[in-house]
Amino acid sequence: MPPLSPAVRLADAAARGPYDGHRPDPRGQPRYAVADPGTALPRYPASQVLGPLLDLALAAESGRVRPRRVPSAGALYPVDAHVLHEGTVHRYDPVRHALTGWPSGTDTGAFVVVLSLVPERTRWKYGARALPSLLLDLGHAVAALAASAAALDVPCQVWTDPDARCLAALTGAPYSLAAVRIGTPPDLPSPPPAPRPLPTGDLVTDALTDLSPGSPAPGWTDPGQPRHPADVLLARRSADSLTGHLSSADLDALLHRTPLVAATADGLRDASGPIARGDARPVLAAWSGGGPAIAEAAAVLLFTAPLDDYRREHTDAGRTVHRAVLEATARGLAARPVGSWSANADLGAALGRPSRRSMVVHALAVGGRARPAQKELPMNEPSRAVPVGGRTRPPRERAPMDEPSRVVPVPPAPDDRSAR
Ligand SMILES: Cc1cc2nc3c(=O)[nH]c(=O)nc-3n(C[C@H](O)[C@H](O)[C@H](O)COP(=O)(O)O)c2cc1C
Repeated sequence: MPPLSPAVRLADAAARGPYDGHRPDPRGQPRYAVADPGTALPRYPASQVLGPLLDLALAAESGRVRPRRVPSAGALYPVDAHVLHEGTVHRYDPVRHALTGWPSGTDTGAFVVVLSLVPERTRWKYGARALPSLLLDLGHAVAALAASAAALDVPCQVWTDPDARCLAALTGAPYSLAAVRIGTPPDLPSPPPAPRPLPTGDLVTDALTDLSPGSPAPGWTDPGQPRHPADVLLARRSADSLTGHLSSADLDALLHRTPLVAATADGLRDASGPIARGDARPVLAAWSGGGPAIAEAAAVLLFTAPLDDYRREHTDAGRTVHRAVLEATARGLAARPVGSWSANADLGAALGRPSRRSMVVHALAVGGRARPAQKELPMNEPSRAVPVGGRTRPPRERAPMDEPSRVVPVPPAPDDRSAR
């Protein structure tokens, strides 16, 4: 793997570093105005493919910029979609749910959606710290399209490492970093790549330019997206309150076939079992800059990576967390993505493993259900619970904010856990 370019390294360091004082200018926020009103598309549950598919995946709900089907860091929605159909490029307007130049009344089940980043939207709020959020948002949008295709039962493949300069030559949008293929459309044309934009001196756009080269030959893969009914996609929302308790069945379902690590009051575990004892959530709250009640969330599901394949790791993290969002929604659980992590967010090092191999890239804080009623203790059995602020809670091992080492790794079993 070639080393990260200086712009990518600096942009990541800015995102993970201390707050740099950047404040968004309320008058300078980029607008979503699309000059061409386009052709309004039918919404779900119309018996067509194109309109309902884009509706369930990317649309704003009702003529306003938000809420939308897909979450976005800071609700800034930096991902634009272009539909490529029969040699023509149509720009999607998620607010009007309309497509430019689309012949009214037509439908198709064979097209390509190219996803492009508009970095100004996220940079307006986060300044030099915008890079990871942009790529995570891209991953969420890829997964949202795959989930929509699964809900509508139409074939779908994704291509997450295209050479952005080749797709840019088709869409005219410079950071066209992913594509989703619905049905079996003809192969994409392959015009010569758009010229590499000149360095701007802006860390985020220069980093995206450095991350733009990818595979020029189409690399379509199965998205591996579990099918959820459309109602789940329509119901998704980021929650504020994430307290409660998660049963093992809920946790098992959230972790099933994922690389996610779950932090709960009881410790850390992944899809194959426990990793460490002790409550890591207060440490995670500190690592995420005091995110949305992370310390009290029923579980925090962590996506980690070594940060040596920056674009792929972040897109995969967004896709994985989006799948977990939908699984949580399907199970009636509150959830909220958390994409802001500091340079200290090194899960591997906190567990005594080599440092910088398991950096937290993205996470999902999940709320639980009301705790099941406690079984009454016999009169003469002393209670192990300690009273806290008038309520009674069982004792917990808690790691103080700055003491990740108090998360105690579970010793590996003799069989298969030596590789962890
Ligand atoms: C990549 C990503 C990162 C996010 N990071 C955070 C975060 O650090 N803290 C937070 O409170 N919400 C975070 N969110 C949730 C957004 O604030 C939320 O999606 C947005 O406000 C839109 O609301 P909705 O998800 O209910 O539609 C994140 C969402 C995404 C997709």
